[in-house]
Amino acid sequence: MALSEPLFKRVAVIGLGLIGGSLASAIRRNGLASTVVGVDQRAEELQLGKVLGIVDETAFTVAEAVQGADLVVLAVPVRATRAVLEEVRTVLEPGAVLTDVGSTKSSFVADVEAVFGCLSPLVIPGHPIAGSEKSGIHAADPELFAHHKVILTPPDNVSEPHLARLKALWEGCGATVLTMSVAYHDEVLAATSHLPHLIAFSLVDTLAGEDENMDIFRYAAGGFRDFTRIAASDPVMWHDIFLSNREAVLRVIDHFTHDLEQLRTAIANQDSATLLRVFSRAKAAREHFSKMLSGQAYVTKNSEKQVTFRLQPGGAISGDIRVPGDKSMSHRSIMLGALADGVTEVKGFLEGEDSLATLQAFRDMGVTIEGPEDGFVRIHGVGMHGLQAPRGPLYLGNSGTAMRLFAGLLAAQPFDSELTGDASLSGRPMGRVADPLRAMGAVIDTAEGGRPPLRIRGGQKLSGIHYEMPVASAQVKSCLLLAGLYAEGSTSVTEPAPTRDHTERMLAGFGYHVHRDGATASVSGGDKLTATNIDVPADISSSAFFLVAASIAPGSDLILRHVGMNPTRVGVINILRQMGANIEVLDEREIGGEPVADLRVRSAELRGIDIPEDQVPLAIDEFPVLFIAATCANGRTVLRGAEELRVKESDRIQVMADGLAAVGVETTVTPGGIIIDGGQTIGGGTVNSHGDHRIAMSFAVASLRSRGEIMVTDCANVATSFPGFVELARGTGINISAEGAE
Ligand code: S3P
Repeated sequence: MALSEPLFKRVAVIGLGLIGGSLASAIRRNGLASTVVGVDQRAEELQLGKVLGIVDETAFTVAEAVQGADLVVLAVPVRATRAVLEEVRTVLEPGAVLTDVGSTKSSFVADVEAVFGCLSPLVIPGHPIAGSEKSGIHAADPELFAHHKVILTPPDNVSEPHLARLKALWEGCGATVLTMSVAYHDEVLAATSHLPHLIAFSLVDTLAGEDENMDIFRYAAGGFRDFTRIAASDPVMWHDIFLSNREAVLRVIDHFTHDLEQLRTAIANQDSATLLRVFSRAKAAREHFSKMLSGQAYVTKNSEKQVTFRLQPGGAISGDIRVPGDKSMSHRSIMLGALADGVTEVKGFLEGEDSLATLQAFRDMGVTIEGPEDGFVRIHGVGMHGLQAPRGPLYLGNSGTAMRLFAGLLAAQPFDSELTGDASLSGRPMGRVADPLRAMGAVIDTAEGGRPPLRIRGGQKLSGIHYEMPVASAQVKSCLLLAGLYAEGSTSVTEPAPTRDHTERMLAGFGYHVHRDGATASVSGGDKLTATNIDVPADISSSAFFLVAASIAPGSDLILRHVGMNPTRVGVINILRQMGANIEVLDEREIGGEPVADLRVRSAELRGIDIPEDQVPLAIDEFPVLFIAATCANGRTVLRGAEELRVKESDRIQVMADGLAAVGVETTVTPGGIIIDGGQTIGGGTVNSHGDHRIAMSFAVASLRSRGEIMVTDCANVATSFPGFVELARGTGINISAEGAE
């Protein structure tokens, strides 16, 4: 970063060790200050600082360095802070910013207060979360902070312009700056850094003490070595850190001791449920964490991963396949299984990121869930009142279904909760559930415009209401029915048009009576759920890509197995058949309260149609790929009454129209739909999927009839609903490759 005007005139770095030296050299390298002056008691380090070009000037006393400096950085051991501050005090310029790089922040603040009598708005404690096994100025590295986090803990009365300058300095060194309170910093570091060091020191010492010859270490395998690597850290430094962060460390030691004791008891009592619960929750958390750190997808980092689909034109579709499990049912199986009495086993669970986020959220609320392994999940239900308060916000990734259904379930829990999601979910409307839930007595805060995050106050008594839904939404209906399980009296919801009824069917499967009267579904609160087994069929929404693919690609013949055929979901088949598609429904059967069938689809000449409005809610997720079918059909297709498409994972009307335009297909967008004149040539081009999984997969299908190569960008979210899509699509004959995928 080249700055015309450096951020600071003179930066004094007190202590030229690894961190102080690296900061000084990063400031110089990036032109962030006119002069960097260093001071260190160790004459050799000081001299090296000058020789290696790490500082512009060296000083022999703290006073000499600090005079005239507009930024003073303390980079000395935490226990030396107070003595150095005494020296700084007499010479600190009135407008200078004072900061530090120590690992504990309350001790720094206490030292400043002791020496200066108060914490001025120009004192901004800092802590770069970066380091190296090496120490000393010869290890100084101007890149040390690049892609690392730096935490600043400014006082409430901080001078904002000075804070902004200090932030800019760290950002100029390549770091990402976070701000938080002193207390929170020390709690977080006590838990994530200080406690693990303490345990490592203690464990190695215990084992070494048990065996004087240290013979035991001969048998120590990789696990021990990995676990105790940090016990080789600097004892004096850690001694200082524990004594400086005493309060927070004591709290986290107590917490850990309590949990360790709980495991001891579980082992003593042969209590497998507790052991499994703790271990599986920890395993999931650890996997999540390592994936996050390596920037791969699980839930949180997914949208940041850049995946591009590259598609060569042409091809025919064939094979005998089963697409992954139904997303709507997978979410609901975890929710109801968790709240049931007893153990629920689920087969065919969708291991996509949306449903995995739901699964993780229930683990975060204390539910033991084994799996998923090849679609098999075992949920140890905790009963209607057995959920525990999560330790932090529940992160629901890309899933609107999860957020809306969770809102209903959590509105009546005894604890507070917060629901967050990725960038797409954070822009979606939640007022549609928050408003009726408030009418039931829930206390829910949303961000501006009714958007996430949702903050739900626990301990509220809910009362049943009757709600006439203004839009046909299964998510809203399900949210209210789930809240209704906890509400006093009856909760009923009337839908303006039929929407998917998986919640009602699955509640019945768990033994909870749902009353149906025409367009109205109702439940009475206060009953219980009894564990059951669930066989999740293949998702008709994922099958839809192949129904269209095989219809539009000449010479195709494909079997799709075990497809969910719930009448509230088969709009795509009805519409495609009306367009002339050749879809045979084979071996219709009912499994676990849901109709299932195999489908055979062969290529056909499609024709454009006016899509009947009553089919819109029944095919709500399938329109992106139906637009591709319409493009390949003869004649005009008109869609109306589909305003809801504008508030899905993306504005699916506009994003599809833009994508079609990018490959040379013209359409007319209307407020609630689109007009597509079929028979236009699909050319090559680059389509932006806007992170919407179904848009990305639709353009993969379009390539079967394109004249040139299609690139689709921002495709990582395909993993939310259809893990393995690329491999399955390639296996059936789509010429697809994914770049940037794992
Ligand atoms: C879903 C309902 C639909 C659908 C979504 C899943 C569900 O949303 O688009 O993918 O599982 O209940 P709306 O009910 O809001 O239309």
